Amino acid sequence: TSPNQTYRTSYHFQPPKNWMNDPNGPLIYKGIYHLFYQYNPYGADWGNIVWAHSTSEDLVNWIPHEHAIYPSQQSDINGCWSGSTTILPGDKPAILYTGIDPQNQQIQNLAVPKNLSDPYLTEWDKSPNNPLMAPTTINKINASSFRDPTTSWLDPDGRWRVIIGSKRNHRGLAILYRSKDFIHWTKAQHPLHSANGTGMWECPDFYPVSTSRSGLDTSVIGLGIKHVLKVSLDDTKHEYYTIGTYDHIKDIYIPDNGSIDNDSGLRYDYGKFYASKTFYDGLKNRRILWGWINESLPQPEYVKQGWSGVQAIPRHLWLDKSRQQLVQWPIVEIETLRTNRVDWPSTVLKGGSMLEVSGITAAQADIEISFEVPELEKADELDQSWTNPQTLCSQKNASIKGELGPFGLMVLASKELQEYTAVFFRIFKGQDRYVVLMCSDQSRSSLNQKTDKTTYGSFIEVDPIHEPLSLRSLIDHSIVESFGGEGKACITARVYPTMAIGDEAHLYAFNTGMESVQISKLSAWSMKRAQIN
Ligand code: FRU
Repeated sequence: TSPNQTYRTSYHFQPPKNWMNDPNGPLIYKGIYHLFYQYNPYGADWGNIVWAHSTSEDLVNWIPHEHAIYPSQQSDINGCWSGSTTILPGDKPAILYTGIDPQNQQIQNLAVPKNLSDPYLTEWDKSPNNPLMAPTTINKINASSFRDPTTSWLDPDGRWRVIIGSKRNHRGLAILYRSKDFIHWTKAQHPLHSANGTGMWECPDFYPVSTSRSGLDTSVIGLGIKHVLKVSLDDTKHEYYTIGTYDHIKDIYIPDNGSIDNDSGLRYDYGKFYASKTFYDGLKNRRILWGWINESLPQPEYVKQGWSGVQAIPRHLWLDKSRQQLVQWPIVEIETLRTNRVDWPSTVLKGGSMLEVSGITAAQADIEISFEVPELEKADELDQSWTNPQTLCSQKNASIKGELGPFGLMVLASKELQEYTAVFFRIFKGQDRYVVLMCSDQSRSSLNQKTDKTTYGSFIEVDPIHEPLSLRSLIDHSIVESFGGEGKACITARVYPTMAIGDEAHLYAFNTGMESVQISKLSAWSMKRAQIN
């Protein structure tokens, strides 16, 4: 393989070359899954943006199509930016997307399939009414911060709603529009929601959830339903969500508690994961999340490499039984790529030890491991000032010995551990309960000085007294997607090892803590290559 191919993925979606960012307008139509994405046809850095298009029957193997939406009229001549699909009555998909006009204003456009009998939906017609929503002196919308329409929902009053990301000064806004016919849209007086101090809200997403793993279509209302509002913060390139109530009468969203306007909010993913979007899969009755894994190489390096950006494995998502957070799990179809299964019997992992997981291709793998911790009462005390999990994970990195932990996985590790990415837990004694920290430590992931090696972390709502601590990692050459506590906290890392590549990559279970832990379960697989374009 040529050097620029070393880090390409084998089962995470990416185009053959060039720049990719946000997933756009995912949908299922006549049994075919569609993924559109922000793409630069001319190079590996951002620019000249079109909607590239691929389809799949299983969300694992993809075939490419011609670009679905590209600059062709006044209303999008300077770019076809992010947007969403809504399925209109009669199973008719409609795309709302942001176009960049000749004045570089952000405006909202509609496109519909040219031929509804084509399940691949290869050709799209732009509405002669475009733009459908635009900044004016009357509506006072900021023309450079007005983008990324969501999937629309239909309320009992017979009007469609959509939100568009925006800001006023430093206040993030979810601007609300309503329409009876999907063509003529009127801006509501109040945003659906807003929060001070966040800056621009990119790629908002708004949808109903319940504790059933069955998903809900976007317009569903009823008992037991909560709503999720997610925004992507342009200022920090992190996403936050809240769970709350949608008041259909006042047309406002009220978060239960917590807020998107500070760094302690909930996140889909505590690592590299941005501009995500969900859709309802009516075939398998679930809500699926797509997200963009952005680069950890600096711009000149990924331009040299000839490609940039990968999509995360689609995640099935639902409301946790606590009703306080979401749970995410890689779509079950990805398991069809598993091969060469390795299982361990229950094994003690002594303090200061590590064990190699052999028999699989460690650079292209899926691993599930569960830990039981016999001597919980030995846990170190949690200092009251340790409120930021990411900071805590960087201060107490994988090499810092505690009582209980760090223990977990060392992935994409070189034989002599010159390089490794460590995904691990630590357990602390909090005021009235044990507190579990999950970390993904990239600080030793590569000898290449140029890559971003930020360490990520999250506290995770699991009770180590009553449940084993589980971790699953999807490893794909330069990606490590980790799911802690059965999907209660997710951390995605983008790494560029120089030694731990291909057959030189190793995988270990490790415990650098003082106390032993029990590996109650370990299953690992090599992953087959998927057809990704
Ligand atoms: C998010 C984003 C969107 C915009 C698109 C442009 O990554 O900046 O707000 O529509 O990318 O490519």
